[in-house]
Amino acid sequence: MVRIPENIENLKSYKPGKPIDQIIEEFGLKETAILWNNENNFGPSPLAMEYLQKSMANSHLYPDPACLELRGLIAKKNQVLIGNVAVGNGSESLFNNLFNSFFEVGDELLTCAGTFVAVYIWAQANKVKVNTVPLTSTYNFDLDALAKRVDKKTKAIYLSNPNNPTGAMISGEEMVNFIKKIPPEVIIVVDEAYYEYAVDLSPDYPDTTAYRYDNVITLRTFSKAYGIAAIRIGYAIASERMIDALMKVKLTFEPSNVAQAAGIGAIQDEKYLRNTVENNTHELHYYYRELHKLGYNFIPSYANFVMLDLGNPESVQILFEELMKRGVFVRVLRAFGLPHCLRITVGLPEENRLCLKALAECKSLIPA
Ligand SMILES: Cc1ncc(COP(=O)(O)O)c(C=O)c1O
Repeated sequence: MVRIPENIENLKSYKPGKPIDQIIEEFGLKETAILWNNENNFGPSPLAMEYLQKSMANSHLYPDPACLELRGLIAKKNQVLIGNVAVGNGSESLFNNLFNSFFEVGDELLTCAGTFVAVYIWAQANKVKVNTVPLTSTYNFDLDALAKRVDKKTKAIYLSNPNNPTGAMISGEEMVNFIKKIPPEVIIVVDEAYYEYAVDLSPDYPDTTAYRYDNVITLRTFSKAYGIAAIRIGYAIASERMIDALMKVKLTFEPSNVAQAAGIGAIQDEKYLRNTVENNTHELHYYYRELHKLGYNFIPSYANFVMLDLGNPESVQILFEELMKRGVFVRVLRAFGLPHCLRITVGLPEENRLCLKALAECKSLIPA
């Protein structure tokens, strides 16, 4: 029998839920609000789709492995050099490639318990031990505890800013103070998947691509604010040395021609981005007001989602199921290590109203 390595045998990989169409049919749902994956419910950026469609005619040819056009546009937008930009099949792919590029046997990853679940999955898949410290009482990264926990085996520290799934933000001042405390040989991975939302929500949100530290690597994505999650395209910004290493290990023709083209269109789609971000900021504040009125305990967010703290896993399960019966799909956070919490993506105005109506109806069903 073929031996499966222990780290893979024991790996709890991403478990998709029941297909939505099946649930809609089961409950006979007339209206739905899909608010469980932090996607952009406005649909894809139209400019991204325009570029993608044109690129399809060249699908018989291998795409540009150096991804020069897209990397050039990302570099220009972020005022860095093309050599400071890598692209991949989503930021998740770039994160996974960090292990191949930088980790040697025995190197460890440090992060907080209660962050983006893929981090633990990809680390285990790459036989990398993850050390964690708890989040703070306000569900943020505990930067002091992380800095103290660094030891000789720590190769990299992962921060999600804002943090998925809690929405908490590390400010510019906190980020700079933290980076200064970390030895220069330790990589600091700052995952800014929700960057475009965060800059609109807080003037204190740091743009780490503007830093010039040799050990900081910023990950961003086109999956969220640009609305092309299915296309799979993300990017990293870092020192030329680190980007060179990352580009060496990516699959030769990753990302595909259509993904590169969609990214090229998306990054120029200022109108779409503005509309998305304005809707999010407006609707997030609407959620705050209504959740407060309804008496739900929520965590202020700097992303396109808001997390409710319901105090116990039983309440989470009840609310999740009751919302689903009313056509509202949200995320339980057991796999993220926060079984007493539930995450709601900010959707279109009508979806958010459907969600809040359902939350109002369900409040009395949750044990106090
Ligand atoms: C913090 C964080 N990083 C990365 C991703 C995934 O990004 P991508 O679609 O580019 O792989 C997500 C998606 O939910 C996320 O929340």
